[in-house]
Amino acid sequence: MDANWKQVPIEVREGIRYLSAHFYPESLMWRWSELKRLAFSSAKTVKQYSLQQVIEELEHFDFFREYFKEEPLSNVKLPQSYIELFDGLVEDFKSPNWKDRVAARFHMITEGVLATVGLKILNETSRKHGLNKFNEGIRVIIEDEARHVNFGFSLIEDKEYVMRRVEELFPLAVRIVKDGKEKIEPLGYSVDELIGLMEELKRPRIEKIKAL
Ligand SMILES: [Fe+2]
Repeated sequence: MDANWKQVPIEVREGIRYLSAHFYPESLMWRWSELKRLAFSSAKTVKQYSLQQVIEELEHFDFFREYFKEEPLSNVKLPQSYIELFDGLVEDFKSPNWKDRVAARFHMITEGVLATVGLKILNETSRKHGLNKFNEGIRVIIEDEARHVNFGFSLIEDKEYVMRRVEELFPLAVRIVKDGKEKIEPLGYSVDELIGLMEELKRPRIEKIKAL
């Protein structure tokens, strides 16, 4: 934790903690405990890089757990919409067309839209408030995530299906952001603008899938 953490306004700290819990949902890890095994065994069946990605995801968990050691994220309550997104991921991994389903839900929607927006807010907010240690960690995660999204494209087998699935899941992503309105807006962002940004992130990804 940064030495100046406690000097940051409480609503900013709360917002940072709220968004961070989306990257490390400490209170809900039990719910998705089989994801780790599923992700590892799936990763082994595709290219080498995917294993590296799973390991990086676990390192991201470590960063948030370590940073918030004194104020654990376990007491941050996440919305039902978020739970729905990850419950679906467990099902996706178990399905025969898991590559397309995981690419749509995880790489395109979760990483490509939601995490991208969340990390942008965490990056800007921590920089603005001089939370240097936190900011450093977030910038490493941003670099990893950009690679992860790109990896997602290589998983796609049925592009028509993935394009349709991304559109189907997009409203759920919007709900997650809307459900966080009270925590996110005090950080200086309007949820409506963020939804616009989400559209702007989704559009070129759909285009890229179409061109595959
Ligand atoms: Fe990732």
